[in-house]
Amino acid sequence: MRILVTGGAGYIGSHTVRHLLKHGHTVSVYDNLSRGHSAAVNASILTQGDLLDSARLDHVMATNQIEAVIHFAAFAQVGESTKNPEIYYRNNVVGTISLIEAMKRNKITKMVFSSTCATYGIPTVVPIVEETPQKPINPYGKTKLMVEWILKDMCASHKWSCASLRYFNAAGASPDGDIGEDHSPETHLIPLAIAAAIGKSKPLEIFGNDYPTPDGTCIRDYIHVDDLANAHRLALEKAIPGEHLCLNLGTGKGSSVHEILDAVREVTGHAVPFSIGPRREGDPPALVASSKKAQLRLGWEASHKNIRDIIATAWRWHQSHPDGYKKG
Ligand code: UFG
Repeated sequence: MRILVTGGAGYIGSHTVRHLLKHGHTVSVYDNLSRGHSAAVNASILTQGDLLDSARLDHVMATNQIEAVIHFAAFAQVGESTKNPEIYYRNNVVGTISLIEAMKRNKITKMVFSSTCATYGIPTVVPIVEETPQKPINPYGKTKLMVEWILKDMCASHKWSCASLRYFNAAGASPDGDIGEDHSPETHLIPLAIAAAIGKSKPLEIFGNDYPTPDGTCIRDYIHVDDLANAHRLALEKAIPGEHLCLNLGTGKGSSVHEILDAVREVTGHAVPFSIGPRREGDPPALVASSKKAQLRLGWEASHKNIRDIIATAWRWHQSHPDGYKKG
């Protein structure tokens, strides 16, 4: 298939681009590089452009005879979204409408969308199934839910085939260490814990140890980025006209913050220095996915199930790229 990947120079996008190429698809990447890295993709397939630039979108879609879109391009920091909601609504929602309009002009009717478990808010029951009520508690989660609604309507009204993939905590890196996670600022637990372990940054602050969990710290379902990439490909290949398929993607197994720090110590050989801080606003105590529906519908299953193996790939990326994509 000839696929346009928006946000393909970002963390999950770049892993998906590699995966699609390995599986014989033809890929064009569209990224404004405001958060992505040109070094994460081959320059020959990258167009630098913004979702709001309709003319450029039309040009890329037409010249590459695009048949389907995988849509990652979005801002994805929960904290930032609560401080500046308007840039989230503009980039994530208005940007997606612009993309959808370009698809319609170019007669492209298939999209796989990067959604999130943040659309569920604070669930009352875990593991979370797709029917769990979606009640996002921050603007980031709300923007993703709004796009899900738009896609649902596009499928109903225009027989589009869409999938919204709700990922839990994306983690790890390509096992060869060539591409990986490089956010600025970095806010995610695993890269921060690795940096703290090797003395590159200050001790890790654990955001609260008084949650109703066995060790008092938050539990998350960490899913390897290559497993997410595989699910995007499968969702596209198995898309059905008129259907908006919503799927959770996780391992079904939760790890607490303390368990992550233990695993980082085992993998790196360095203990993670830490302090206990207050809870971070908007952090649910536990988020764990049921991915039974993804298994049933796509035949998908996480292949990296062990948190140490996932962290080992992040560690390899860190060792080969200590400053991320910045060439030192
Ligand atoms: N944590 C710390 N200290 C830190 C960083 C994180 O204790 O310095 C804790 C958090 O409180 C949380 C866990 O580690 O319990 C994981 O935090 P991350 O920031 O790595 O990930 P989140 O669970 O906050 O965020 C992820 C995705 C978001 C998505 C969200 C849904 O990155 O895009 O899940 O809850 F919106």
